Amino acid sequence: MRVVILKNAEQISCRAADVFGQLIQARPAAVLGLATGGTPLGTYRELIRRYRAGEISFSQVTTFNLDEYVGLPRDHSQSYHTFMHENLFSQADFDTDNCHLPDGSCVDPAQAGVDYEQKIAAAGGIDLQLLGIGTDGHIAFNEPGSSLASRTRLKALTEQTRSDNARFFESIDEVPRLAITMGIGSILDTQRIVLLANGAGKADAVQALVEGPVTAQVPASALQLHPHVTILLDEAAATKLS
Ligand code: F6R
Repeated sequence: MRVVILKNAEQISCRAADVFGQLIQARPAAVLGLATGGTPLGTYRELIRRYRAGEISFSQVTTFNLDEYVGLPRDHSQSYHTFMHENLFSQADFDTDNCHLPDGSCVDPAQAGVDYEQKIAAAGGIDLQLLGIGTDGHIAFNEPGSSLASRTRLKALTEQTRSDNARFFESIDEVPRLAITMGIGSILDTQRIVLLANGAGKADAVQALVEGPVTAQVPASALQLHPHVTILLDEAAATKLS
C-alpha cells in the first residue's frame, strides 16, 4: 500500500486524474471502476478539463460504478445514475452504453447483484478502481461487519452513512435505507486501486485503514490485502497517521 500525502484536495484530484490518464493512454479500452460522493468530484472535473483540452478520450472505456441506492428511480436527482451522468458521462465522450451502475430500481436486487458481477467478468474485470472512504470505514456501501469476501449484493446502510449522505437530500428521512453495492471481494479483484480521502472528518477512518488490523469492522482495512493500492490524502486526512 502506497500512501501519498498532498497539500489539498485539488492536488489529490490532479494526481488521481494522472493515474487515469496514464492508464487510458496505455489502454484506450480500459475498464474503469468509479465512485460517487463528494470526494471524486474534483477528479471528474479534472478529467473533463483534460478531455476538453484534447488530452484524453473516454470513447473506448467501459465503466462500472461501485453502488446505487435501492428504491430511487434511475432519473431521481440523487440516484447515482443521475450523479454520474451529470458530473462525468455527459460532459465528455463516454459511450453511455458502456457505462454501468447496479440497477437499484429492479424488482430482484439479489439477482441484480449476480448480473452485475457477470457483466464485470464479461468485460474482463476492472483495471483501475477509484474509491472514497466513509467516516465509518466503509468502501462502496460495504458497511462495518461486511464479509471481506463479499460480492455485489443488497446491503442496508448504517445510520452513520445515512446521516453523512443526508446533505444531498431534503432530509434524512429521504435517504434510502438499502443499496446494491460491489462487495469487498469484488473490489479486491480489481487490478489497481486508488483511494482518495480529504478533510479531518476522514482522519480516523484513514488511520484504521492504513495502520489498523484487517477487520470486517473497518471494511477499508481489507485494502491492506491488495497488492496495488495507492492512497491519496490531504494533510488533514493524514493527521492521525503515525
Ligand atoms: C460512493 C461510495 C462511498 C463513498 C463514501 C465517501 O460510490 O462508494 O463509499 O466513497 O461514502 O463519500 P464522500 O466522498 O461523499 O465523503
